[in-house]
Order: sequence, then C-alpha cells, then structure tokens
Amino acid sequence: MKKLIGLVIILSLFFILGETFYLHSSFAKSNQQKKLNIEKLDFSKQTLKEGKTLYKRHCVTCHGIKGYGDGPGATNLNPKPRNLKEDKLKYGESYNEILKLVSNGIPKSKDMVPWKNVLSKKQLESISAYVKTLRKN
Ligand code: HEC
Repeated sequence: MKKLIGLVIILSLFFILGETFYLHSSFAKSNQQKKLNIEKLDFSKQTLKEGKTLYKRHCVTCHGIKGYGDGPGATNLNPKPRNLKEDKLKYGESYNEILKLVSNGIPKSKDMVPWKNVLSKKQLESISAYVKTLRKN
C-alpha cells in the first residue's frame, strides 16, 4: 500500500512538472512570435511606405506633414494635436502603445478619434510603425 501511494505521488510530480514545462515553452514561443512580428513591422520598407502614405492622407491635417503638430487644421484645436516628433506621449511611446492609442483614440477627445472604425488592422499597424519612426528616440 505504501509503495502504491509513493508511486502515485511520484507520478503526479512528473505530471505537474511536465505541465509547467509545457506551458512555459509554449508561452515563450508565442512571445517570440510577437517579437518577430514587431521587428518585421519596424524594419520593413514596404510597411513604412504604406504607413507614410496613410499618415499623409489621414493625420497630416492636424499633426502636420513632419509630425510637429502644426497641420493646417491644428490652429483652432484645444488641446493642440500632439507634436509626434518631440512631445512626450501621454499614453506610452512603444509601438504597441501607439498602435492601441491610434486604434482606440483618446477617451473623450473629439479630435483624436478611434481610427479602428476607419482603417484596417494592417493599416493601423503600418501607420503606427511610421509614427514610431517619426520619434526622435
Ligand atoms: C482632427 C485632428 C486630428 C487628426 C486627424 C489626428 N489626430 Fe492625433 N491627436 C489629435 C489631438 C488634438 C491630440 C491630443 C489630444 C489630447 O491630448 O486630448 C492627438 C494625439 C495623438 C497622439 C498622442 C497620444 C499620446 O499618447 O499622447 C498620437 C500618437 C496621435 N494623435 C496619432 C494620430 C494618427 C496616427 C493620426 C492619423 C491616423 C491622427 N493622430 C489623426 C488630433 C488629431
């Protein structure tokens, strides 16, 4: 009987360890995958080119052609559009944070609206990659 209990304990230990290892490795894998996607976005010329075209079409009126927040539509806005080149970004400066902000807009802002209603996921990604490259840092 004692032997049987010992065996059960050993078997459950193996099971728990195996499960933890499995979960850990699949988690690491999905993280690695995400990282790869971001790198691909940041460095692909095609993506940045598309982002630039979209930026010119949708964002320049307020944020300005170079991103200094000095577009023709910015004059009467309060608060002013963010200077995307130099201002600290309130909602975070990483690619992912910019993507989230551009997709969902700024809460209660009548000017910085959620762009996910207008642009596709791929377009949101390329425009955010482009905005990230506008930053000095
Ligand atoms: C109608 C004018 C307008 C347009 C068009 C516009 N924005 Fe904005 N944007 C603003 C204003 C105003 C703010 C700051 C709002 C605030 O502080 O409440 C802002 C803020 C931001 C921020 C800064 C958020 C932070 O964390 O500080 C980012 C990034 C941004 N816009 C990106 C974009 C992108 C990309 C586009 C084009 C898809 C775009 N905006 C189009 C007016 C505009």
